[in-house]
Order: sequence, then C-alpha cells, then structure tokens
Amino acid sequence: MNRNQKRTPLFTALENHPKQNATSFHVPGHKNGSIFPKQGKTYFQDILKIDLTEISGLDDLHHPEGAIKEAQELTADLYNADYSYFLVGGSTVGNLSMILSVCQPGDKVLVQRNSHKSIMNALELAGAKPIFISPAFHKETESYHLLNIDQVKKTIPLHSDIKAIILTYPDYFGRTYPIKEIIEEAHTYQIPVLVDEAHGPHFTLGSPFPMSSLSLGADIVVHSAHKMLPAMTMGSFLHIKGSYVDRYKVEHYLQMIQSSSPSYPIMASLDLARYFLANITSDEVIEVIDEVTKIREIFQRSKEWHTYPENVSTDPLKITLEINSTKKLKETVALFEEHYIFPELVTSNQMLFIHGLDTYMDKHHLQKSILSIEQRLSSKHFDDKIEVPFITYPSINEMPFSYGEMKTKDVEWVTWEQAKGRIAMEAVTPYPPGIPFLMKGEIITENHIDTINALIRNGQHIHYKGHDIQSGILVLK
Ligand SMILES: Cc1ncc(COP(=O)(O)O)c(C=O)c1O
Repeated sequence: MNRNQKRTPLFTALENHPKQNATSFHVPGHKNGSIFPKQGKTYFQDILKIDLTEISGLDDLHHPEGAIKEAQELTADLYNADYSYFLVGGSTVGNLSMILSVCQPGDKVLVQRNSHKSIMNALELAGAKPIFISPAFHKETESYHLLNIDQVKKTIPLHSDIKAIILTYPDYFGRTYPIKEIIEEAHTYQIPVLVDEAHGPHFTLGSPFPMSSLSLGADIVVHSAHKMLPAMTMGSFLHIKGSYVDRYKVEHYLQMIQSSSPSYPIMASLDLARYFLANITSDEVIEVIDEVTKIREIFQRSKEWHTYPENVSTDPLKITLEINSTKKLKETVALFEEHYIFPELVTSNQMLFIHGLDTYMDKHHLQKSILSIEQRLSSKHFDDKIEVPFITYPSINEMPFSYGEMKTKDVEWVTWEQAKGRIAMEAVTPYPPGIPFLMKGEIITENHIDTINALIRNGQHIHYKGHDIQSGILVLK
C-alpha cells in the first residue's frame, strides 16, 4: 500500500456537507431527512443526512473526478489492483459487467458449473456459448467445490476460441482450490480469468485467510464487500489488473447497468469498509481468529451435528455444521431461531454460520443456547435420512446452443414426467445459495427431476420464472 489509508474521502465529503443549513432543491425527496414518515424517522434520520446526490463536492460515480475517484483509488491501492470500482447493486452488477465486457454473442467461455445465477444471467445477456466445468464432489465436506485443474488444462487447448474463463472462488462455504494453476494455464493462451470472489473481499489480508485470486494473477475480480466486510448491503467492488481486459468496456457496462442515482450511504460504507480493512492490525486479526476458534469449539462439543474442522484452504470465518436427517435439521434450525441465533444458510444437510471481522459475539450466551438446543435434540429420535439425492454433473458440459441462439427458439411447457431428455428453457435455482441446479439450455436428466422433486418436498425456496414449479418446466419446443 502506497497511499494514506487513513483517509475516507467520500465519507468525509458527505460528513462535511452542510446538511443542517443547506436548502435542498434537489433529490432525494426526503430533503436531507426533513420529510419522512414519523414512525421511521428515528431509525432513518442519521443515514438520511448522508443520503445525498451528485451535488458540488460529492462527485459522480459514473464520471468520478473528486471524492469518489480518490476513494476508488484507495481501494485499488489496498487490493493492489490497477483499477477498482464501487458497485451499488451487489456483486450481481460486477458479474454482469465483467462478462458482458469480454463476451460477444456466440463466444465460447469456460465457466465453473456451480456459479451464482448472476453469472448465468450474464452469459444469457451476452448470448455466450458456455462450456461448463463441474467441480468434483468432495466427500469429506459433502460439497462440489474442487475444480479439476487437469480437466481445465485439458479442455483449454481443445477450444482455441475460448474468450474467457469464469470462476467462483471461494464457494459460499469459504472453500478454495488451487486457482493459481488455472490462471497461469489460461494466461499461456492469453485467455483472461474473471473471478467471482464475492465471499472473499478480506482474503487480501493474507494468512490465515486463503490467498486472494487478484494476488494470484486474476484479471477481473468481483467482491461483495457487504458479505464479509462492514459495508452496507449491495456495496461491492470490482477490480481490474493486467492487460488482458479492456477497462473501458467494463466501465461502459458498469455505467449502463448501475443506477444513475447510486446510493451515497452505500458508497460511503464502501469507503469505510476499505478503511477498516486497510487499518486492521495483525493483533486484531488474531483476536478475531481466536474468537472463531472458541465458537467452533463450542459447536464441536455437541454430538448432535458434525462440525467441519478448520482447514487451511477454507476461510476460517465460516463454520459449517452437518446433520444427516432432514427432520433433525429442520428441528435444529427452529431451535436456533428460538434462541435468536440465525445462520446464513441452510442446505439440505448443512448449516453455515459466518463470523464477522471483529470480536462481537456473546460466547456465554451462545454456549448456554447450544447446551439447551442439544438437550432438546437429544430427547428426540430422528430416524429419517436426507431426502435430497446427490446430483452428478458431467465434468465438461458444452451447451447444445448458445444463449443467443436460444433466444430465437420456441418454447413449450411440459410436466416433470415429460421433461427427461428435453432442453430446459428456464433455470431452477435453490435460494440461498442462488446456484442454479438446473440451467437454462441444459438437457434435463432423471437425476435433475428426482432432485427437484426432493427439494420441493423439503420446502426449499426455489427461484424460477413464471408458472408452478411443482408440476413442470418450460423446455425447447
Ligand atoms: C458466489 C456469489 N456470487 C455473487 C453473488 C451475488 O452477490 P450480491 O448479492 O452482492 O449481488 C452471490 C450472492 O449470494 C454469491 O454467493
């Protein structure tokens, strides 16, 4: 870091704006918080003071020359990027912009199969022709996060026209893989590597966190600052490094996709999150890790679930519990909620808990709650097994049509019984984690159908378009 990371240019500009005495003849309509429904005013009044707009001294996200420019440069300095951008629509807009900037309709791109739906949506918008690479199933953690590096290395030379490689690192559970090998291999063919690092904005701190893909040579990296740093929801970063991508194209799509009235509170929180990360000391990181270790131990004491031990390639801030009975899992989630303990994510057999980057937890309360949950669980008998079958994906899967070609095709609706062997024309995405389980353009297998039925029976929240998912799906006519 070469710059003064104690500065918070955007937040300071907002703080110094003379709100109290200023006469607002500009948007937003709450006029610095003076017009606002009474019942919400107490909660909102402080934040409304900095909910300003592109007036003198407050710069313009789409043409930054002042405070926002400096705040973004400080971010690039922290991450050792060539350029960093503030995003006010989450990593979603980062993923859309980075993919649109490298893909023309019909272009082939190599894409990690278990990517967030924003990646899939971007591929569809770009009209790309993805070749999906599926991570192998990792038995120890019952997850699909291990990307087969050899498979990637073998696939690249088979397609001389691949325009980019699009990866997700880490996964939702903080698990990583040797991404550097893929980046180096891609670069020998001058192929840019775009990384959705939504869950790793703190990896730039280095050990004990996994390495950041940006430091390992990735060309564009997107970070959901709001997920792991103290930033407001939707606050995210996009970073560019190296010469394989055209920053003007990325900027073009960012200004196209992002609001022309970006939220100043979100942008200011990004400025402060960057400040926080740049100034955290190694002693503070040790204290955080110490707290997470104690919490992990509290979880590990219970026989009612399996707690995944810490692993060097996994983000230590993530704690995953596994429960091998659907009924027990549901009961456990309900008991945690009874104690006002809310996990980030519940899958068909796992619960994910995410710790923050500071010490804030009442460990005594947690310990007492867990003891009480344990007692309640041990008094019950659960003899069912997990209902959702494991899906197997082909390790390499080229779509029959590009998304551009699919746009021109007719669709029809079929029941699940009729769907086997047909090409899905809508994605089915359990949310969270928001990773499409069946993708638009993919051939529907029996395994897909069984799993979707099991997810529905399980009451899993599913994102899909249109009609009743219980009975069928749109397919290519
Ligand atoms: C891996 C991954 N990428 C991208 C996103 C989208 O991020 P955001 O919610 O910041 O738009 C998510 C959201 O959960 C995600 O898990």
